[in-house]
Amino acid sequence: MSDNSRPVTRRDALVALASSGATLAGCAHPALAKSAPGAASPSPSAAPPTGPTPPAAPALAGAHTPLPLPFKPTALNGISEKMIVSHHDNNYASAVKNLNRAEQELARIDANTPPFVVAGLRQSELTFRNSKTLHEAYFGNLGGDGKRSGAIEKALSEAYGTSSRWEEHFRATGAGLGGGSGWVILALELDTASLRTCWSGNHTQALASALPLLVMDMYEHAYQMDFGAAAPKYVDAFFVNVHWDEVNRRLARALSAASVLQAR
Ligand SMILES: [Fe+2]
Repeated sequence: MSDNSRPVTRRDALVALASSGATLAGCAHPALAKSAPGAASPSPSAAPPTGPTPPAAPALAGAHTPLPLPFKPTALNGISEKMIVSHHDNNYASAVKNLNRAEQELARIDANTPPFVVAGLRQSELTFRNSKTLHEAYFGNLGGDGKRSGAIEKALSEAYGTSSRWEEHFRATGAGLGGGSGWVILALELDTASLRTCWSGNHTQALASALPLLVMDMYEHAYQMDFGAAAPKYVDAFFVNVHWDEVNRRLARALSAASVLQAR
């Protein structure tokens, strides 16, 4: 990291860039953000800043820390400790680390930063921010007994005819992503207070105005170690371990938010 206590000179920037092993063209290429989002991904890099260091931006502090797993890693049924710990400690933690680096680099951009560098950093920021959010929601809705009840059961029945019919939709969406990558998300759309089942081919395709209620990671790192290419078996194991009390908590919170918005 640069020393932000004094102005960064062009020489400082070029030395830092050289020591990182990066090239200006390489650091800015959009593929930087695509190659392993959420995993041990290529690190966002920066253009050499010019002029004085800008004031600190609280929105770009780059100080996020990974949350711990909210359950004992040995507690899941049919999902191994080795796989869930690897997922948490490698893929999720790397997303948080890379989000911090993207924010730190974005905090240094100015009017002289090449637009393609800014574009690459913004793509990285969005990828890693959503990866962080979705991974935290994913781990947070595991560790339960898989028995669906309460308000979410009623809401799913009203939205899909039966909650079993909704589960067919959710599972089929997961199957559609098997062998590829992405997320399946049950969300509450805030504008309409309606349940939506969404497909996301990567971290950046989430429904724009919605809060996630149930999140299933369909990146291969979520199941390959235990299930190989048998993604449907992973989906079975996912449903056995869903923490529906947490989903009900999220539903109540989302409905409250939607109610506030609709009252305006
Ligand atoms: Fe993941």
